[in-house]
Amino acid sequence: MTAAAVLCGLGSWLPDGEVTNADLAAQLDTTDDWIRTRTGIRTRYVVSPGEATGDLAVEAGRRALKSAGTEHADAVVVATSTPDRPCPATAPEVASRLGLPDVAAFDVAAVCTGFVYALATAAGLIATGAAGSVLVIGADTFSTILDPADRTTRAIFGDGAGAVVLRAGEPGEAGAIGGLALGSDGSRSELIEVPAGGSRQRSTGRPAAPGEEYFAMQGRPVFAEAVRRMSESVEATAARLGWRVEDVDRVVLHQANARILAAVAARLGIPAERFVANIDRVGNTVAASVPLALGDGVADGELRPGQQVVLAGFGGGLTWGSAGLVWPELTPA
Ligand code: COA
Repeated sequence: MTAAAVLCGLGSWLPDGEVTNADLAAQLDTTDDWIRTRTGIRTRYVVSPGEATGDLAVEAGRRALKSAGTEHADAVVVATSTPDRPCPATAPEVASRLGLPDVAAFDVAAVCTGFVYALATAAGLIATGAAGSVLVIGADTFSTILDPADRTTRAIFGDGAGAVVLRAGEPGEAGAIGGLALGSDGSRSELIEVPAGGSRQRSTGRPAAPGEEYFAMQGRPVFAEAVRRMSESVEATAARLGWRVEDVDRVVLHQANARILAAVAARLGIPAERFVANIDRVGNTVAASVPLALGDGVADGELRPGQQVVLAGFGGGLTWGSAGLVWPELTPA
């Protein structure tokens, strides 16, 4: 029988630098009221000068290994769109710093869907026997690519890292990842992008125009796509697992906007109370969003062993994806 990837460890890490809505209102033309009512966010955390995505990834990864009661993983997959450097990937150095020399290590780039894509990749490594255990880390430092003058993106995004350990197990076990459903629509890539800094701009030989090196997003169409794609994704995962949507106990969506969570709940006909939410405390942490929500969901008593749980992400690409599991016994670190 093909081995299933079973969740057995969970770790979270946030940088020290808190930026409250009041802090933003002191710098930009915005208010605490606008940010809270339009996004549900109260605060977020950002890295200090010199601190990078890999530093957050190491801390979250260390905690996930501790939570799993192990010091070893056969592979490290880092989901990020803000790697420490354009080349090489961030994962090999993270693996080395975690005391995991010689293991397979690589990055997955799917922006806010990165963690779900990395989970699917890790499940594939386990199913093929290429790895018996995988450390999957979602880590991003979007504060390093935001336009300091952009009140919208600065209100939404925060930095952070979340990680899980997957081990080979049986498909019927609590914690076994199943119902994976992934998708993309590259015809709409311009809705979420950093226009400059890649080969498309660099090969022209012209320097980047002012501001092109910053992250840019078209909020309204992204909102609509996020609601549609994550709703359809949750339905697809439930169907693949043979669950009725109304029997899903907890939904853990990418934390993009509290109004997106509410809209997906309404569209699916699932009570909003079943949606795990920590966006008020951390903002949109991109690839770290889903694993940080898992950690806070357990800490808040929202995620409990035996529940049928669906995770879903949506982000740049455009990309989306989802997975389901029966929540296992574990203690996050
Ligand atoms: N403070 C005050 N006003 C702001 C603001 C801020 N931080 N950001 C935008 N505004 C203003 C706009 O300039 C606009 O003003 P105008 O009406 O005078 O033009 C007004 O608020 C409404 O802007 P709009 O973009 O229509 O607001 P919205 O209700 O769609 O909310 C987002 C904007 C970005 C919060 C929302 O569209 C969103 O969450 N989109 C999805 C983002 C996302 O999920 N991104 C990541 C994908 S993974």
